[in-house]
Amino acid sequence: MKILFLDQSGKLGGAELSLLDVASAFTPDCLVGIFQDGAFAQALASRQIPYQVLTQATIQVNKDSGWADSIGSAGQILPLIATITRLGRKYDLIYTNTSKALILGALASRLCGKPLVHHLRDIVSPEHFSAANRTLLITAANWCAAHVIANSKATAAAFVEAGGNAKKVSVVYNGFQPQVYQTISETDLRTDLELGSRFVVGHFSRLAPWKGQHILIEALAHCSESVVALLVGDALFGEQDYVNTLHCQVEQLGLSHRVKFLGFRSDIAKLMQVCDLVVHTSTAPEPFGRVIVEAMLCQRPVIAATGGGTVELITHGETGWLCPPGQPQKLSELICHSYHQPEQTQAIAQAGYHHALAQFTLEKTNQMLHQRLAQVFA
Ligand code: UDP
Ligand code: GLC
Repeated sequence: MKILFLDQSGKLGGAELSLLDVASAFTPDCLVGIFQDGAFAQALASRQIPYQVLTQATIQVNKDSGWADSIGSAGQILPLIATITRLGRKYDLIYTNTSKALILGALASRLCGKPLVHHLRDIVSPEHFSAANRTLLITAANWCAAHVIANSKATAAAFVEAGGNAKKVSVVYNGFQPQVYQTISETDLRTDLELGSRFVVGHFSRLAPWKGQHILIEALAHCSESVVALLVGDALFGEQDYVNTLHCQVEQLGLSHRVKFLGFRSDIAKLMQVCDLVVHTSTAPEPFGRVIVEAMLCQRPVIAATGGGTVELITHGETGWLCPPGQPQKLSELICHSYHQPEQTQAIAQAGYHHALAQFTLEKTNQMLHQRLAQVFA
């Protein structure tokens, strides 16, 4: 099956990292069309996945914008739709991986007469999208998608709640290659990072207000001096103000000696292995949360914020811990609990590891995706 994948991003977010694995399975008979050059393009190239940057223009519409912005950006969008339509004729299927890609891919699929499948990786709710963009997204999916693949039950439920056609949506969880998370670092990262024997709490996510790094920093202030935090990730979508706020917060709370900002890193597995605990702190429902499964595969205990897909990944007190979102006091209690109960923590990490090995392999995900795509042509 020849697939034209579409993704709006030039950056390496979770949606793009997931698409790398999906598109690999359809290489060389696929093309990944992206709307921006950057780290994602480099990652596609290094995996020998055919790709093309489809426009030099920046598409201005963002998740919070309204109809007026969308119409105002027509000058950039129309040539891009024409390009996608032209390319679409050479493929059996258009597969969109992000919301802007869906809007443009939907129109192009109508124009070139090829079926469209959308991989929905966002929770379509007011916390994540403006009303205008929710309407646009749901209308495009209902009218133009032959099928919608949701990355969790929570994502699928939010789609239906927002008016999406329930008959079109099914859930396929993200898949991972376990061996990637078992690599051992050649250098002693703990020493390199000057962590000594302190209790290391890792947070792995792009820096964005809804990812809630500020919640971890505040929680840390309630934990003992021997608990330190590594914040891995950078602002990918212009959240520089938030980054500045985080640095100020660390300074004001007198935590500069206990918080390290490492920026965007590609050695996630090695860094996770340095951690005693991995936390996830999203304040809005997380559609899936790759970092949670990655930590499990690194055999690290995880605390995740309740909401969205996280409750599908973790059974509280068995395969990890769930914490109410936006509650630093509760988070600090769980961190302290993990610190003081090493045996239970170790048992939870092992249970999480076996759960992830059984439920979230790339092999399983690819099998399910192939089935769903085959059904489009049945
Ligand atoms: N990640 C990374 N480098 C970083 C921070 C994060 O490669 O410095 C990866 C992380 O390992 C995960 C992805 O980015 O695979 C984030 O995906 P997730 O689903 O957790 O959240 P998203 O950012 O897509 O909402
Ligand atoms: C999106 C979501 C994230 C999910 C990822 C991969 O980026 O925000 O929760 O894990 O897609 O599906």
